[in-house]
Amino acid sequence: MSGTSADAIDAALVSVKGNTTQLESAVTCHYPDLVRAQILAVSANPQGMLADLCQLEQQISRAFAEATLALLERCNIAKSDIVAIGSHGQTIIHQPTSTPAFTLQLSDTSLIAHLTGIDTIADFRRADLAAGGQGAPLVPAFHASIFGIEPSKVVLNLGGIANVTILAKEQIAGFDTGPANTLLDAWCRMKTARHYDESGDWGRSGNIAPQLLERLLQDRYFSLPPPKSTGPDYFSLAWLSSQGGDLERYCAEDVQATLTELTAISIAGALAPVCAPGTPILVCGGGVRNTFLLERIARHTHGSVVLTSEYGVDCDFCEAMAFAWLAYRYKTARPGNLPSVTGASREKVLGALYPAS
Ligand SMILES: Nc1ncnc2c1ncn2[C@@H]1O[C@H](COP(=O)(O)OP(=O)(O)OP(=O)(O)O)[C@@H](O)[C@H]1O
Ligand SMILES: [Mg+2]
Repeated sequence: MSGTSADAIDAALVSVKGNTTQLESAVTCHYPDLVRAQILAVSANPQGMLADLCQLEQQISRAFAEATLALLERCNIAKSDIVAIGSHGQTIIHQPTSTPAFTLQLSDTSLIAHLTGIDTIADFRRADLAAGGQGAPLVPAFHASIFGIEPSKVVLNLGGIANVTILAKEQIAGFDTGPANTLLDAWCRMKTARHYDESGDWGRSGNIAPQLLERLLQDRYFSLPPPKSTGPDYFSLAWLSSQGGDLERYCAEDVQATLTELTAISIAGALAPVCAPGTPILVCGGGVRNTFLLERIARHTHGSVVLTSEYGVDCDFCEAMAFAWLAYRYKTARPGNLPSVTGASREKVLGALYPAS
């Protein structure tokens, strides 16, 4: 798995037996700085040159294969013991509401299967899109399987984009609430040359600018009803300056504080109508390390915010486990999407298999 932050590849070794899904081992392999810079540049301007995209796809796919091999070496497991790789690819553009709808995860999956010698399942999103769905989020079915639907709870993933799964006996819901880290990272990178706001300390040092916050919250994505999904190609620096106006009027750390608040308020605002106050919120993803952000989320949701790790699922590898689980669903010919979440007309088996042989 590599998400919209494009920070690293999370490789998870997962065993699925019956209803039990277990994380056996995991590694995080950072992209080389140059590859990450290219991914971010291409995502910001996806209509770039085709040859550049194809070259980037090769570099990404090699990095995915290397992450898999590093994981197997680390836990001393033979590739012959692995049933399949579930590989997400790297999202470059995601536009489920354009006509026609499309989404693109760069992945030369044939290359991954060849370099690792392991059958690889990829391209999970497009079967759902073909059936009229958003192609995202795809993690709710996994969340339901691993956390159960009783008692009710929310799973909140703080990646580049924030996505929620509402697990309840009556119905499982899920959608992207908007940005989690993507704007925080982009602003921090531009103003400080650091990749992210360590622990949220820089944002904490600023003051929230109420008028700026108000303007950003007016974006119609936040009030759209589900099903909905989005990406950093939408919530970008270009979005920030067109929605927020002249940002140079503010101290850079005040903008960071305001963006942190935007993430927290948009999550809380999205959850308020769909779950009872006090419902536990299980958080995962890199954003859990931004303690300022977590405090603001807890403040606005009035819920008990706990790490998924406290529920037995490593908060750094929950998403990566989901794509191993989706590969398992493919191998057992079972659907991976939830039409109640994505809006697809029906359940679909997701992905396609690229054999190593
Ligand atoms: N120590 C830290 N302090 C603050 N933020 C952090 C820290 N470590 C990681 N992060 C944030 O977490 C992000 C990476 O999170 P993660 O890998 O979950 O996102 P992702 O790759 O976009 O995943 P996905 O889209 O699948 O949810 C970083 O870009 C950064 O914003
Ligand atoms: Mg990541």
